[in-house]
Amino acid sequence: MDQETHWEKIYRQKAADTVSWYRRHLEASLALIERAAADNNSSIIDVGGGESTLVDDLLVRGFKNITVLDISQTAIDVTKKRLGPAAERVHWLVTDITQAQLAPGAYDIWHDRAVFHFLSTADQRTSYVRQVMRAVRPGGHVVVSTFGPQGPTKCSGLDVVRYDADSLHHEFGTRFRMVESSTESHETPFGTTQQFLYCYCRVE
Ligand SMILES: C[S@@+](CC[C@H](N)C(=O)[O-])C[C@H]1O[C@@H](n2cnc3c(N)ncnc32)[C@H](O)[C@@H]1O
Repeated sequence: MDQETHWEKIYRQKAADTVSWYRRHLEASLALIERAAADNNSSIIDVGGGESTLVDDLLVRGFKNITVLDISQTAIDVTKKRLGPAAERVHWLVTDITQAQLAPGAYDIWHDRAVFHFLSTADQRTSYVRQVMRAVRPGGHVVVSTFGPQGPTKCSGLDVVRYDADSLHHEFGTRFRMVESSTESHETPFGTTQQFLYCYCRVE
């Protein structure tokens, strides 16, 4: 099954708050994005945003230049419906991030929670990092969250690659200056916990 079919199937079968990665609010992501943002005009892309409430919370905080990208049309449609008229204030992209056509230097802040760790081949990861280097302006920031070293080895039936701060930073390379890293113990809707790693980098 290809990636798009896989994620479409997941989102057609499950409600937003019943998937393992669901949180009412992505607090750690929000804190890093607010830290990275010069002001409310900062251009932010949430890569693999799925049905998460990050976009809702960014709109509430007054951010005016938000893009949500996901491979699943269903996830984007659910999020747009939840937002109602506010959805018109967001740019939406339905595409695979490794193949997306993103304008050079378009974004000040790149956010990804739980997408990069699904890229299982070196070619996919290289394509992803090329996209970040092209689409984030020099001086911009990147927030990437994956499963940490003690995190699960699978998510939604797919194998994942687990990272610590050094191995994740290594994937991105020296043009990315690590500002901070941390781990989070995420409580799933089923009461289990999953270790997430957050890396916050500046693009030099
Ligand atoms: C585990 S979910 C995380 C969703 C959201 N970031 C969150 O934290 O709630 C992974 C998301 O990445 C999307 N995704 C997976 N592979 C992708 C790809 N190659 N390009 C774009 N989106 C992708 C999926 O459709 C899904 O919404």
